[in-house]
Amino acid sequence: MRNSLTALSLAAALASIAHAQTLDAAGLQAIDAAVSAVAPKMVQWRRDIHAHPELSGQEVRTAQLVAEHLRRLGLEVQTGVGGTGVVGTLRGGLPGKVVALRADMDALPMPEKTGLPFASKAKGSYLGKEVPVAHSCGHDAHVAMLMGAAEALAGLRAQLPGTVKFIFQPAEEGAPVEADEHGKVPSFGAKAMVEAGVLKDVQAIYGLHITANLPSGMAGYRSGPLMAGSDSITIHVEGKGGHGSSPWSAIDPVVAASQVVLGLQTVVSRQLNISKEPAVITIGSIQGGTRYNIIPDNVELLGTLRTFDEGMRQDALQRIVTTAESIAASSGAKAKVRFGPVAYPVTTNPAALTEASLPALKLAMGGKAMVIPKVSGSEDFSEFQKVVPGFFYFLGAPPKGVDFAKAPPNHSPQFDIDEDQLPTGARSLAALAVDFLRRP
Ligand code: NI
Repeated sequence: MRNSLTALSLAAALASIAHAQTLDAAGLQAIDAAVSAVAPKMVQWRRDIHAHPELSGQEVRTAQLVAEHLRRLGLEVQTGVGGTGVVGTLRGGLPGKVVALRADMDALPMPEKTGLPFASKAKGSYLGKEVPVAHSCGHDAHVAMLMGAAEALAGLRAQLPGTVKFIFQPAEEGAPVEADEHGKVPSFGAKAMVEAGVLKDVQAIYGLHITANLPSGMAGYRSGPLMAGSDSITIHVEGKGGHGSSPWSAIDPVVAASQVVLGLQTVVSRQLNISKEPAVITIGSIQGGTRYNIIPDNVELLGTLRTFDEGMRQDALQRIVTTAESIAASSGAKAKVRFGPVAYPVTTNPAALTEASLPALKLAMGGKAMVIPKVSGSEDFSEFQKVVPGFFYFLGAPPKGVDFAKAPPNHSPQFDIDEDQLPTGARSLAALAVDFLRRP
């Protein structure tokens, strides 16, 4: 905590938020003091949300907590945005640009095994089944940090040159409902919020993801592609059933599907130019047949494509269709390929925004910021980046006393964070927003 500013230096610091061309040390001091004052509340919010996790699209309690907080701060609040999303608008005392900060609110359909006193015991309904629910991706921390940043910036409102929109997003982890027979679902998550007009007038957006696998208090970032685009794949291989003893009188979809699985591996290894960007195709499920001596009518394959370049993504999608259809056809079977419901674009930090934002990020992190390798996981923050320049980064927060290289990763039932980094996250988000508003 660094909130020991004298009244005089605080006044100077506040003035510097309004008048410096970019965020300077005095401006950061004002933000830091405001964030430090909220730090104990951020821990309470995080624990409360952690103990009451809600699945994608069902973030009712969380959204209510957020909306009440933003209203108390005197922000303009919209609820029910793109589902259960909440948007708070803070209009500064001085005219200026509009910047957005984003946090995702949803938890995962999985058990928690952290042993924390506030560990989740919640159950939820996922695709018609009762499941345990846990905040094993740290979105509870994201919500607490953005609530903290909102309170800090609301306290500095008079000196704020422009408008900050606080976007609390539902359903980042995936579609809240099952796909229809065409593999389609209604828009969800960031895409639904964009379609609801949340980025109207917004000139840039910032967001972060907490991770236990970076050093404590370290920001991890990179310019250009940061996280993979993700497309879910369903391939229906239609053959003709028959007796296992006489395959010549059938069309065997099991063999055809097996060849398709292997053939798809050549899309990345033989067909895409991986000297440009890497890519991954994984088939994670093969379903078909009931018995050892029955050739089934059909087999269904489920998989995922990960890419780091939009052109390569579109190319790979086409090649997956061609490869599956052609291989199946060679034995008289038919392959029908469909993509979705997951279809997240590549999370890409534009070079200009990254470069312009780095000084403020480094200032807010006390110099602790490093370039990290690409991440083959995905993030629907990319839907915002399709519309306005957006910068996304990771915040290292391994549990105290745990080596970041060995800490349970996001989506592990043992995933945990260091709550001392909540103010670091809030400070960095607030600093990036103020800096963006200050920049000519
Ligand atoms: Ni996440």
